[in-house]
Amino acid sequence: TPHSSLQIDAPQASGDQPPSASKCFGEQFQRIRQLSLEIAAPLSVEDCAMQSMPDVSPTRWHLAHTTWFFETFLLKSTSGYQAFDDSFEYLFNSYYNAIGQQFPRHRRGQISRPGLSQTIDYRTYVDERVVQLLTSGSTLTPEQETILELGLQHEQQHQELMLTDIKHVLFHNPLYPAYNSASVGPEAGELPCLESANSMEWLEFPEHVAEIGFQHNGLQHNGFSFDNEMPRHRTLLLSHALSKRLVTNAEYVRFIEDGGYRRPELWLSLGWSTVQEQQWDAPLYWLRDAGEWQQYRMDGVHAMDWQAPVCHVSYFEADAYARWSGHRLPTEFEWEAATVANAASNAKASETARRFADQLIAAGQVVHPRAEGPSQSANWMGNVWQWTSSQYTAYPGYQPTSGALGEYNGKFMCNQFVLRGGSCATSSDHIRPTYRNFFPPDARWQFSGIRLAR
Ligand code: AVJ
Ligand code: FE
Repeated sequence: TPHSSLQIDAPQASGDQPPSASKCFGEQFQRIRQLSLEIAAPLSVEDCAMQSMPDVSPTRWHLAHTTWFFETFLLKSTSGYQAFDDSFEYLFNSYYNAIGQQFPRHRRGQISRPGLSQTIDYRTYVDERVVQLLTSGSTLTPEQETILELGLQHEQQHQELMLTDIKHVLFHNPLYPAYNSASVGPEAGELPCLESANSMEWLEFPEHVAEIGFQHNGLQHNGFSFDNEMPRHRTLLLSHALSKRLVTNAEYVRFIEDGGYRRPELWLSLGWSTVQEQQWDAPLYWLRDAGEWQQYRMDGVHAMDWQAPVCHVSYFEADAYARWSGHRLPTEFEWEAATVANAASNAKASETARRFADQLIAAGQVVHPRAEGPSQSANWMGNVWQWTSSQYTAYPGYQPTSGALGEYNGKFMCNQFVLRGGSCATSSDHIRPTYRNFFPPDARWQFSGIRLAR
């Protein structure tokens, strides 16, 4: 049964005018907290409890953990705050050793309590107290503002994870249930002929020194960045070209048909052993029915949309495809410099295309990548994350945030690769050209695809 009661109350009107910064956070807080409940709304109580693999967390856990973040880092340091439930500090701490021990991640799907309704009560309790803090008339300290903003960005990251985790959970049901049904979805077409699949335009860049990373008060997209996007620094880029559009399903199926998954010479060693262990022969969510390719999407099983970008590939598959096609993956620096250079076209493309989760959900559409428009007006953000060949490591001079929140990003800088650009499961006001997402090279349950370089 879907929940219609998942709603938070509007903040009480207060006679005093709250300070403008806090007022603006109040609106953002309501909107972003509400979207998490909207994402959960089509699910049953049972759906919300499922964990289909160690990397997936139950929806109910995401709803609690994002609440825990505001409680732990914002409310607990305000005077007189009474925790909703003391045991939640342990249950919903994801990985902060400075806070304390954590309930093991791979067992999140094995506990039934607190249940969904108590989790919603927890959200309401914490939301009320955050809204009180915002409307109390006293100004937030700079530290409180920083944590509030981080908490909202954190919730947006978990909203994307909720969507990808729900998709993974529902896919494990042999009935392939739909999360929602779109009013208008991408149309499936014929597999295009080889020539049109092979036409790829390239953006050429001469050797240059690029400014990489986020700078506060600089000419930046918005005022927030994670610590891992800093400090801004110069990087030498040799002359190179990047593909103007993403690799499509039509292109990727040629790799499959050419024996891509059976030819070790195309793969990194670790990738080849993963292909064999996991018995990969196509991207995640690809299905075959009587020889016809289909795809599991959040609106159920559909014929393959050949013009849409290939999605749900691992770093290993992206790298093997690039090698097979005679190209390579971009570095994260090439990607960022090109996206900054392409900013005008990105903005223009955003006006016409709905390509982000918040827009798709508001329009009642399916969270799924769309075929790109003409390459001149391509937007490099949204649709699918793009694997880069860059290891996720610290920028020169990187300083993690001080205190427990220093564990947010920095300690994961090992054995992961950087993805750029956001996806159809990312919110439009969460992504920016300097944003560094990161996952291990065998991860494929995110909306991750391929842009080529040479
Ligand atoms: C940046 C998506 C890899 O999944 O752990 C959530 C996001 N950080 N809570 C992750 C995150 C803290 C992070 N990724
Ligand atoms: Fe988190």
